[in-house]
Amino acid sequence: MLVVHDIKKSFGKKEVVKGVSFSIEKGESFGLLGPNGAGKSTTISMICGLMPYDNGDVQVGGISVKASPMEVKRKIGVVPQDIALYPTMSAKDNLIFWGKMYGLSGKEAKRRADEVLDYVGLKERAKDKVETFSGGMKRRVNIGAALMHKPELLIMDEPTVGIDPQSRNHILETVKNLNENGMTVIYTSHYMEEVEYLCKRIAIVDHGKLIALGTKTDLCNRLANGTVIKIKASKLSGDFVSALKALEKVERVVTNPEEGSADIFVTEEKAIGDIVACTVQHHVQVLALEVKEPNLEALFLQLTGRSLRD
Ligand SMILES: Nc1ncnc2c1ncn2[C@@H]1O[C@H](COP(=O)(O)OP(=O)(O)O)[C@@H](O)[C@H]1O
Ligand SMILES: [Mg+2]
Repeated sequence: MLVVHDIKKSFGKKEVVKGVSFSIEKGESFGLLGPNGAGKSTTISMICGLMPYDNGDVQVGGISVKASPMEVKRKIGVVPQDIALYPTMSAKDNLIFWGKMYGLSGKEAKRRADEVLDYVGLKERAKDKVETFSGGMKRRVNIGAALMHKPELLIMDEPTVGIDPQSRNHILETVKNLNENGMTVIYTSHYMEEVEYLCKRIAIVDHGKLIALGTKTDLCNRLANGTVIKIKASKLSGDFVSALKALEKVERVVTNPEEGSADIFVTEEKAIGDIVACTVQHHVQVLALEVKEPNLEALFLQLTGRSLRD
């Protein structure tokens, strides 16, 4: 369905996408997970033909984006990070506009707009101006716009940022449902939970590179024996952190001073005994101690030493 081969992009002297490659089968749900500034939106723009790449190639259904951008655009529905709607037009008229842009006749566009509004849960608001909508509802119209021409591949760029929880859940369920009905999906986010929930395969992106790629299970298996112990304390002195780092079963310690917490990557769960002993020795008052389930946040920390939401 999609082959991305060694694409690169620079803005001036700054290279922000540094040779990204991956491919996606038809019907897959694929996640791009990475912190702000990782290069996700730039990558997406190149895949959709909205921005030329400096190197490599992107093929959608065997067709090169560089060679035939229009043909590729018809196969893709893209939900951009920034809302692109006419505020003074109704939800339905916005959708009809986008349908016509994608080559539907007026009659087809009207019929399809009704279907799509129903699908994104906005049938009752069809005639209302988009400017009266909440952020989450606007986002749902945007998703509808991307679905008007029944694309083979749906690409969503952080569709849940800054919206209410109800709309967020609605969007997640819509995407899940679309994928279960055969739509190929690329979902971009810096929220680990969303990508874990929706995507069968996940690429972790940082500083313009894919630093890991696989199923959630594959990725979590790369964690140091899968165990991270989180400690919250009244004070995390440098001495205490150094002592933790020196423990035999501890691989790395990532502190979060704002939270007064530290993530301790250990080689075995038994390390918890040594950690507790260490707190006693250093007169550290422990507020919470937790063995974390292996997750992608922990993997990101292990690979980069930073949190996804820094
Ligand atoms: N049009 C542009 N001109 C210059 N720099 C840009 C432009 N678009 C993005 N960047 C820079 O490229 C990097 C990656 O941005 P982006 O792809 O938007 O990341 P993400 O979507 O993962 O948050 C950032 O450092 C950003 O500031
Ligand atoms: Mg982005």
